[in-house]
Amino acid sequence: MGVSGGGKSFAAKGEIINQVLSSNADIIIIDPEREYSQLVRAMGGEVIHISATSENHINAMDMTKEYGDGANPVILKSEFIMSLCEQLIGGTNLGAKQKSIIDRCTASVYRTYQQNDYKGEVPTLQDFREELLKKNEPEAKEIALAIELFTNGSLNTFAKHTNVDTDNRLIFYDILDLGKQLMPIGMLVVLDSILNRITQNVDDLLQSHTARTMLANSEFIVMLNQASTDRLKLAELLNISDLQMSYITNVEAGHGLIKVGSSLVPFANKFPKNTKLYKLMTTKPGESV
Ligand SMILES: Nc1ncnc2c1ncn2[C@@H]1O[C@H](COP(=O)(O)OP(=O)(O)OP(=O)(O)O)[C@@H](O)[C@H]1O
Ligand SMILES: [Mg+2]
Repeated sequence: MGVSGGGKSFAAKGEIINQVLSSNADIIIIDPEREYSQLVRAMGGEVIHISATSENHINAMDMTKEYGDGANPVILKSEFIMSLCEQLIGGTNLGAKQKSIIDRCTASVYRTYQQNDYKGEVPTLQDFREELLKKNEPEAKEIALAIELFTNGSLNTFAKHTNVDTDNRLIFYDILDLGKQLMPIGMLVVLDSILNRITQNVDDLLQSHTARTMLANSEFIVMLNQASTDRLKLAELLNISDLQMSYITNVEAGHGLIKVGSSLVPFANKFPKNTKLYKLMTTKPGESV
């Protein structure tokens, strides 16, 4: 957290570099501003550009054996397909009949893949739509029609087989060009594809708790130069003393306070400018590579 120019992007890039070089952690970046692409390329990461017209695709129906948290992955996936359909249909709640149909069709399209021990061809949303069309209920036909634009129409980017390396430990989702129509489902698909790799606490994230809860639950917070009103709110929320406040008041970029567990530690990070890394991390036009 910090004011514009306080060094948030720079600190995030520094953290990414440290993790890449000194740990085995996976790093996943969702970037609506295409700020991290140079750095990710330089570090050998996978850049995934998603938009209606991009060559990169993530199959919304991708599902590994590990998907979810030990329960039958298809049950969880069926819930995901329901939220996806809800979004595609226009953000309205699905009725009980529609839900049952979606659940039945989801189970059918995964049957062979699941019997095959999650190997071979993963179904796509196009297969899912074809399955809907086989059903006699008018509700099934309605859902099939509603999702057509996203399965067989011009916004079908999530209905094709994945052609990017989602196993790379450094993944960068470039969502700048998603556009208004695809953004909500794009975010759902990206979060779901992350859920294929991690199992902890993603539920919380998907249920979008308030920022306040997120902050109160964060073990690690970097605070850079703060605007005065934000500073007061933070002080109250995180018990920051007047003296400690001076480290986030009118300070240079890259200086601030770190909260680790219950401790607050001041820091000054003056990154050397005559380095290749600096050129990859800076956001100042003219300084970058
Ligand atoms: N630790 C640091 N050492 C040296 N220079 C830094 C450091 N942190 C930031 N800077 C410089 O300050 C500039 C602004 O920082 P940065 O782009 O990270 O700000 P920001 O908080 O992300 O701003 P915005 O909210 O506008 O995105 C950087 O481009 C870099 O030149
Ligand atoms: Mg920034």
